[in-house]
Amino acid sequence: MSDKVYVFDTTLRDGEQSPGVRLNLDQKLEIARALEDLGVDIIEAGFPISSPGDFESVQTLAREIRGVQICGLTRAREADIDCAGEALKGAANPRIHTGLGVSENHLQHKLRMTREQALEVGVNAVRHARKYTDNIEYFMEDSGRADPEYVYKVVESVIEAGATTINVPDTTGYTYPNEYFHLIKGIIDNVPNSDKAIFSCHCHNDLGMATANTLAGVMAGARQVEVTVNGIGERAGNTALEEVVMALFIRNDKFGVSCDVKSRNLLAISRLVSRLTGMMVQRNKAVVGANAYAHSSGIHQDGVLKERSTYEIIDPLMVGAEKSEIVLTARSGRHGLRHRLAELGFSFEETRFEELYAAFLNMADTKMEVNDEDLRTLVSA
Ligand code: KIV
Ligand code: ZN
Repeated sequence: MSDKVYVFDTTLRDGEQSPGVRLNLDQKLEIARALEDLGVDIIEAGFPISSPGDFESVQTLAREIRGVQICGLTRAREADIDCAGEALKGAANPRIHTGLGVSENHLQHKLRMTREQALEVGVNAVRHARKYTDNIEYFMEDSGRADPEYVYKVVESVIEAGATTINVPDTTGYTYPNEYFHLIKGIIDNVPNSDKAIFSCHCHNDLGMATANTLAGVMAGARQVEVTVNGIGERAGNTALEEVVMALFIRNDKFGVSCDVKSRNLLAISRLVSRLTGMMVQRNKAVVGANAYAHSSGIHQDGVLKERSTYEIIDPLMVGAEKSEIVLTARSGRHGLRHRLAELGFSFEETRFEELYAAFLNMADTKMEVNDEDLRTLVSA
């Protein structure tokens, strides 16, 4: 099994499905260029049949972005696949992503098909997509709630029909990491032709498990992760690209895989996607939140100032942040205050420093944060 994990970014497709988000073509191009610079392997550019605008986006990205595979989503219908084939015509390396549901819930309530009918529709879709490319990804919607025995049958049949990547979506964010691990491992172990395809994790965050599930899938042998910048997407969102990538890097001892993303671009692309989509990044968001490298309590500040790794497992430079931040609040201690004063060019003998520290605490009790201007006022008082 290859050691490389392919990063399939779906910010422009599943991410753009976030309620309240609408990106125009120029904005999609800007994000796609940033994703190419970031080093992702595949960009899912849209769902071409869904609207003329989405068709145009996929077509334009296919022509303009040459260093990355460009993918178009389709339902398992010939008209969708023909439309995606047309939109992707100019791509250097096109991928068609087709498929349909596999859970009893989706078969009964949404597709209104028997298992056998759905299997036939899926196999025919793959065969049809091969008219346009050999690079075919097949998704089994709602795999997380499906009967594994049926999933194995579908996987075997669509690989036989020509699918080269198999997407195992936990569409509703229902599974827990150990369940998702066993789902992926079960497929790899039980499907006779599983060595002919790459397995892909596509997780949603309804129970806050998207990143953990995706990483569990990698642990089980999946070698593609489907992610969005800042974890944007339907409902509670998709797996966050930055979280998975940093977990693969920081815990390489556990995963032992490689990925081509340049982590130094992560903060910049997070800010770009946030600005263009209008989706704010929460301050305490892992990896890219404003507080991710900020320390406010005295105990933590003292540790970090002595040795950064006491409280930081990620060097902020790795994600393109300038440095760790010491934020002065009523919970800060002497070490933090002395450090900040020194950065501003002040140093005081002990008695004066103790006076300043007492004044600082009084001020800090009345404010969210004591900033540099406040410190200058304290010093000059
Ligand atoms: O969540 C999902 O199942 C999807 C598929 C369309 C791939 O987004
Ligand atoms: Zn999805």
